[in-house]
Amino acid sequence: MNLVSPNFSDLMEPNIEFKNFPDGDSYVRIENLSGCQGEEVNLFHRLYPDQNNNIFHAILLLDTLKRVGARTTLVTPYLPYSRQDKTFKEGESLSAQVLCSMLAHAGAQMLITLDCHFLKKEGEFEYGGLKIKNISANKLLIEHAKKILGEDELEIISPDQGANYLVTEFGGKSMTKVRGEYQKGDEAYRTIDKVEGNFDVEGKNVLIIDDMISTGGTMIRAVGNVRNGKAKKVLCAATHGFFLKGSLEKLLDVSDGVFTTNSIPNEAAKVDVMQLLKL
Ligand code: R5P
Repeated sequence: MNLVSPNFSDLMEPNIEFKNFPDGDSYVRIENLSGCQGEEVNLFHRLYPDQNNNIFHAILLLDTLKRVGARTTLVTPYLPYSRQDKTFKEGESLSAQVLCSMLAHAGAQMLITLDCHFLKKEGEFEYGGLKIKNISANKLLIEHAKKILGEDELEIISPDQGANYLVTEFGGKSMTKVRGEYQKGDEAYRTIDKVEGNFDVEGKNVLIIDDMISTGGTMIRAVGNVRNGKAKKVLCAATHGFFLKGSLEKLLDVSDGVFTTNSIPNEAAKVDVMQLLKL
């Protein structure tokens, strides 16, 4: 049985209700809860954007399903907090672990997600007590690039070592990224000091592929790098496109094209995640 959240309505017909009480508390309702009793349920629900609200919605839904003995798989294309799997400074939280434990405790028997940042490979894992199936969108993104640029001489490069798994099976290479300290102010953002890699890209078409484009800082530096190497055409792709701080426009200015999946709805989404999430 499939349950579909209102925030999945661009991909499937929703059959769950979300509202707010006058004081702002969340209200969720699964109309056909009796039909879920003792069943295998796939809960299609995005946890981003508006992650803190949507995580809480997921917890309420999972618990409601657990109470009727449903065995629920949460299908969420992008897992927020997945970059907070390590601490950098004393006293920071391990937010990725906290989120996974909460989802498992609420009743998720499995999480299906795409290119989960801390897993760094496809397959089935257990993390924070939660079983996770991690699927990569790399093949679909590379196929899309080949439709645009043709099959010839496409150099596939990831902008850092963490995204190396996206490119290795296609003979790709990875740049190295060095992050600096947190910037001053309220935003928890660590600067990107360097994105380096010395590849022979002169006269070649290049696809730079990452798990996500957030502020675009990584991708913009990676494009600069292959432009300096006199690449012919440069495409930028990622599974998850946030495009914060006007980064889509900036990337379109410096590259020959930018595209992502629709894991997070955005203007550059060209690859449909339902090809990967059909269960
Ligand atoms: C981090 O290691 C990720 O793989 C991405 O490279 C990073 O999160 C992208 O962030 P931004 O677009 O802000 O540079």
